Amino acid sequence: MLLKDKNIVITGAGRGIGKNIAIAFAKEGANLGLISRTLEELEQTKKEIEEISLNGKVIIKNADITKYDDVAEVFELFNEKLGLLNGVIANAGASRMGSTHEFDNDRFSNIVNVNILGVYHTFKACYPYLKKDDKKSKARFLITGSAAFPNAMPKFAAYTATKYATVGLQRSMALEYKKENITFNQILPTMVDTRLSRGRKTGDGNKPDSVMNPWDLNDYYLFFMSDLSNRVNNKLIYTTDFQEIKTIISEAPSDKTESWDDFKDYLMEKTPKIYENVKKLGKLVDFVITQSKESI
Ligand SMILES: NC(=O)c1ccc[n+]([C@@H]2O[C@H](COP(=O)([O-])OP(=O)(O)OC[C@H]3O[C@@H](n4cnc5c(N)ncnc54)[C@H](OP(=O)(O)O)[C@@H]3O)[C@@H](O)[C@H]2O)c1
Repeated sequence: MLLKDKNIVITGAGRGIGKNIAIAFAKEGANLGLISRTLEELEQTKKEIEEISLNGKVIIKNADITKYDDVAEVFELFNEKLGLLNGVIANAGASRMGSTHEFDNDRFSNIVNVNILGVYHTFKACYPYLKKDDKKSKARFLITGSAAFPNAMPKFAAYTATKYATVGLQRSMALEYKKENITFNQILPTMVDTRLSRGRKTGDGNKPDSVMNPWDLNDYYLFFMSDLSNRVNNKLIYTTDFQEIKTIISEAPSDKTESWDDFKDYLMEKTPKIYENVKKLGKLVDFVITQSKESI
């Protein structure tokens, strides 16, 4: 199991991407601390994990990540119940579409508070409890960003601004904590079938093909929480590149997809642009290759 005995906290784990990765992590043996504001949704996530009768611990606590004292209290609780933390995923987020000149001021502030302050609060509150004593198994701080960086979206000014900001946060923190055993990375998905992007239509089976299912992202999160990514730091993972790579892998001759070493020349020939984007992420491509083979 990839995450056996790892203690991992996920914010925004009541639904959508956070819930899916919580279930995927539980299947890989992790102990989990799960946060969102809606206790009933967290209870449902916990119930679904327990239904597949997995052995790891699941601790849930409702809290608003825009309130620092509440977040600090939750991390104290997780530390008490789980011990030191191997990884934290700052995933919770908020969005709303609307003309910028008419946008509600409080709504704008809330998006900023959840998506920027919330990530900062999460880091500040988890920092004392991160397991930083092992060079071979560094603590992970992983952010769910968005492909709105750098592809700004009209009528999403608040959201786009905050997703630019999380890249700034990551880059600054990765430099600041360079000498400590913490890595900072970010997953930047395009549209995913969750309430944030599709509201009540979420999961209706009619999503456009360009919209991913939340579970399509599991591999990226699994990789970053596993020991395989121990030396990968300060990277931005554009899911479009890797989704494209998955298609290329499925169509490639098998001798080209044994490993990254076999695959890279093939990829360079097929799509030089994607090769350029991922050439420093060979370990992740290797992982995607392995996972693709396991799912056949
Ligand atoms: N869906 C997409 O198309 C897409 C694309 C790119 C990036 N993302 C990013 O993916 C992340 C997860 O979003 P999602 O798509 O899974 O949306 P979602 O289904 O709406 O889930 C968002 C989660 O964040 C929690 N949350 C929101 N505000 C919170 C707060 N103040 N305190 C604590 N928890 C809070 C929500 O629970 P409560 O409301 O109960 O608090 C929920 O569990 C976000 O950072 C989002 O920007 C999404």
